[in-house]
Amino acid sequence: MTEVQTLVKDLANKHGRKRESLIPILQGIIQKDRFISEHAMIEIARELDISSAEVFGTATFYSFLDTDTRGKYVIRVCKTITCSMKGKNQILLSLEDGLKVKVGDTTPDKKFTLLETNCLGWCHKAPAMLINDDVYTELTPESVRQIIEEYKKRDIRVE
Ligand code: FES
Repeated sequence: MTEVQTLVKDLANKHGRKRESLIPILQGIIQKDRFISEHAMIEIARELDISSAEVFGTATFYSFLDTDTRGKYVIRVCKTITCSMKGKNQILLSLEDGLKVKVGDTTPDKKFTLLETNCLGWCHKAPAMLINDDVYTELTPESVRQIIEEYKKRDIRVE
């Protein structure tokens, strides 16, 4: 069994093999590998007994389909309507300014990748973003700056 097969099987054992298990499984793969390969998508489809097109569609919808290797921390800012109306653009500007990258880019030290994504299901606490699989809500330009500083410090402590 390949490493990807084992990972998908472990995640399916943990999260179940229903349709609702798809997102947690995709997140689990991102957590481990930081991106979802075609091989992983095929394995997920096999494990959950759904089509690879469905896996691909879900991964794309949530922008989980990172075909490039991403930074250690992948930031996904919700771009859907509630978050847009509640200041998503200012959040992005603050992140771009703090990280010195544009949306879609990874910092030169490979620590952060900044992306946009579709609704995360936290509209009642918009604007929202994910950093890997941690959710941050009711964001302001100041709060995201602080969050990023925390992540930068976290790395200094680890290294
Ligand atoms: Fe952003 Fe739903 S619109 S979390």
